[in-house]
Amino acid sequence: MTVAGRTIVAETGRLLLTRPQDDDVEAVFAVHGDPETNRYNPHGPHRERSESRAMLDGFLTQWTRDGVGYCTVATREEPGTVIGFAGVCFHTLDDEPVFNLYYRFRPTAWGLGYAAEAARAALAEALPRFPGLPVTALIHADNLPSRRLAERLGLVPDPDGRVDHEERLIHRMP
Ligand SMILES: CC(C)(COP(=O)(O)OP(=O)(O)OC[C@H]1O[C@@H](n2cnc3c(N)ncnc32)[C@H](O)[C@@H]1OP(=O)(O)O)[C@@H](O)C(=O)NCCC(=O)NCCS
Repeated sequence: MTVAGRTIVAETGRLLLTRPQDDDVEAVFAVHGDPETNRYNPHGPHRERSESRAMLDGFLTQWTRDGVGYCTVATREEPGTVIGFAGVCFHTLDDEPVFNLYYRFRPTAWGLGYAAEAARAALAEALPRFPGLPVTALIHADNLPSRRLAERLGLVPDPDGRVDHEERLIHRMP
């Protein structure tokens, strides 16, 4: 099913989760080029649209290769305006295949429960299709909004404080 020309992955009371599409470079740049949304990202915000193009190509590949990936998120009121990205993709963590949970929203969409609503919908859509695949999230220790959200979604930080190669705390759904 499509809305505003976009393929729907999941719907919630307020949100539409759709597959990213080839013309989403501006949407990727709007979210990932904003210093506020990358305060805890050691690589910083995208400076060039070419970086967003490369990221979008990765998102598109996830979907065509794996049948699952990060989603574009819009409100039902404005289905053509991407307010953020949320979803899971295949990842390998210490040789273990896992789902990586991701969410990043425009600051104007923070504090409204959208990220939690979108992440729950993405998990509910993907997990039954890939049963048994553990859900993890990699979050810098000082990114408290993200950690709070991960914990509200049922993920817990590694009890031994294990981090990945970028020093991000490994969170996992028990
Ligand atoms: C991480 C991020 C997505 C969290 O966004 P957020 O808006 O804080 O998270 P939510 O959408 O769950 O909103 C939750 C807040 O909205 C409030 N809220 C308002 N209306 C709400 C509603 N109808 N339903 C639920 N919560 C609501 C809640 O009280 C909650 O506040 P609290 O966390 O202080 O209790 C956001 O900070 C972000 O995009 N950060 C930059 C990117 C990033 O760091 N991503 C993670 C990389 S690891």
